[in-house]
Amino acid sequence: MATILVTGGSGFIGAAVVEALASRGDRVVAFDLVETQRLKDLRAAHPHVTFSAGELTEWPQLAQVFRHSRPQAVIHCAAIVGVVNSLASPIATMRVNVEGSLNVLAAMRLFDVCRLVNLSTEEVYGAFTADRIDESHPCRPSKPYGISKYAVEQLCRDDAATYGTSITHIRTCWVYGPGLPRPRVPKTLIDGALEGRPMHIPAGGDFRVDHVYIADVVQGIVKAVDKATTPQDVYHIASGQAPSLAEIVEIVRELVPGADIAIGPGHYAFADGVEPVRKGALDISRARRELNYSPRYDIRSGLEAYVDARRRGIG
Ligand SMILES: NC(=O)c1ccc[n+]([C@@H]2O[C@H](COP(=O)([O-])OP(=O)(O)OC[C@H]3O[C@@H](n4cnc5c(N)ncnc54)[C@H](O)[C@@H]3O)[C@@H](O)[C@H]2O)c1
Repeated sequence: MATILVTGGSGFIGAAVVEALASRGDRVVAFDLVETQRLKDLRAAHPHVTFSAGELTEWPQLAQVFRHSRPQAVIHCAAIVGVVNSLASPIATMRVNVEGSLNVLAAMRLFDVCRLVNLSTEEVYGAFTADRIDESHPCRPSKPYGISKYAVEQLCRDDAATYGTSITHIRTCWVYGPGLPRPRVPKTLIDGALEGRPMHIPAGGDFRVDHVYIADVVQGIVKAVDKATTPQDVYHIASGQAPSLAEIVEIVRELVPGADIAIGPGHYAFADGVEPVRKGALDISRARRELNYSPRYDIRSGLEAYVDARRRGIG
């Protein structure tokens, strides 16, 4: 039975990965600042899941979890996530994302762990130059979040070249589904629709970005960690499609009849004055070919699954 350490194991993606690994019988150690109720429930259901509270930037706390658990592989999800959070706290973003990841690499070296799957993001590209891009698109990140995540990728590349670690970066895009902690579309739309609250977003209907359902992201991560090494060090794990936010609103309206939700045309803004750069779809052919990744959800079936989960009180 493998032992896999999941940093950020209380988070949206981390907890879903912990659940998938535990369900198939792996021993999983979740490392995070705090344990959520979801993780407590997972531990109750799966005796091979443990939780270790700690701060990535505190070397003794991270070293301790490596010393006690002796993992064979690490899935690194912990981070300060998102453009808006990173603009509010650029220094903390650099500390947690860059220094924290360096600590992970150092702990791997010290405790002989060779395999790392690192969660990265489409933000490493900066503005897309086409409606669909593959992994060879130039990386010109423009905000602290994307800059920190690209720095981590590059530091990992140096680590792999110097120490022979096997590191795979998963560049995913806008992940949605039960458990997302941040108020972002489509969560805000679905919450409004199901709670009977009007949700009128003034602008953004024309904005297109690859939306990927959480179960597909987990599938890609697990497929990657199951390989001792991958032919390339970076893969898109996404849906391969970039619906517009207006199309998403339309689908949610169909799934929740009577929902009072709407979005105006034009470009989307995360917050006042903070707009995402041009985005689009992530080409997933490399992951299909080399990881055997096969997403099961398009935007309609993903939103359907999300609405269904929320109706059952999940997420
Ligand atoms: N959710 C998305 O749409 C998305 C898209 C692209 C990439 N990603 C990447 O996926 C990964 C996971 O994202 P998520 O959506 O699950 O985010 P999340 O915020 O839900 O989870 C991140 C977790 O990291 C933990 N964490 C933060 N700082 C820490 C620290 N100093 N020490 C220990 N733990 C700390 C948080 O407590 C949280 O549980 C991140 O690396 C993110 O960059 C996410």
